[in-house]
Amino acid sequence: MSSDVTHSPNNEHGTELEQASSSEVFTNPGLPPHVHRFGDDDAKAARRSERQVASLFVLSMIATVLFVVFYFAVGDDDLITLPLIGPMKALHFALGVTLAVSLLGIGFGAVHWAKTIMSDEEVVEERHELRSSDEARAGAVDVLAEGAEVSQINRRPLIKYTLGGALGLFAIPLGVQLVGGLGPLPGNDLSTTLWDTKLPNGKPRRLMRDPEGTAIRLSDVSMGSAFHVLPEGIDDTEHPLNQKVKASVLLVKLEESLIRSARQKEWGIGGVVAYSKICTHVGCPVGLYEQQTHHLLCPCHQSTFDMTNDCEVIFGPAKRPLPQLKIAVDDDGYLIATQGFQEPVGPSFWERS
Ligand code: FES
Repeated sequence: MSSDVTHSPNNEHGTELEQASSSEVFTNPGLPPHVHRFGDDDAKAARRSERQVASLFVLSMIATVLFVVFYFAVGDDDLITLPLIGPMKALHFALGVTLAVSLLGIGFGAVHWAKTIMSDEEVVEERHELRSSDEARAGAVDVLAEGAEVSQINRRPLIKYTLGGALGLFAIPLGVQLVGGLGPLPGNDLSTTLWDTKLPNGKPRRLMRDPEGTAIRLSDVSMGSAFHVLPEGIDDTEHPLNQKVKASVLLVKLEESLIRSARQKEWGIGGVVAYSKICTHVGCPVGLYEQQTHHLLCPCHQSTFDMTNDCEVIFGPAKRPLPQLKIAVDDDGYLIATQGFQEPVGPSFWERS
């Protein structure tokens, strides 16, 4: 073999290797002899494999049907306890297991089909130009037809129909999840928060530090400080997370002279103002308070609210200001909410006129 590569002095090792390899002669060992499987020569064995493949597809179909049944039959609050894992939602367990069996049934069936029934003879495909000739293209169609013949799908209607059934039924869980898994329709849940109600003893709710859960005195709020706040008396038995999320508030003290809105001044006390922390874009917590500019930043999509101007949006995708919580001081000097938010909190566009 000739070479037109120019070798540099420090490339001698490479040159030796090239000479050695060019002097060796390799013979094409060819393909190993084809070893026949049981099913290749024995019609009974092939038939047995066919039934095994079909059984796996049927198993997939059963699991798919059970998935749909469990989706509607198992309650969302039902719990089961599993060894090593502990308690978990029965619905999640049932859907996970049936979906897994449904997928595995199709997968194992297809693999078993390929390994026991489809032809496993190796063939050599010579390289050719990128664009095939017209004859080769026409030949590709023949190859596909031959593939169908080799897979025996036309001669094995049991496999054909069970595979079709398994794949067809498998689309059902996706449809059920798409339609039913979107959650409940939005109601008016964001129009009411715990701040709308009083404590069981009839007193207004105090503003409590989050997460410490301690009440805040007006004197605790120094200029420029910010408190993450939750309402007093969160009921830990009834969706406490929902209550917390909807009612979370940011409390800030501003120079009174900076506040531009008369209502904002009136609903605060001595420059201390409280605003919902739930972004009016898509509901992330707006917790980044910039002391110098008095801007509140939402970390999700950078919506920015101006605290000196009723938390109006000055940047970003949010379209509405954050709702303000009207606050006062009780007889013991602690901050309380005198009424709930006057607008729905968060991205509640469907609740606003
Ligand atoms: S959720 Fe706040 S900007 Fe998108």
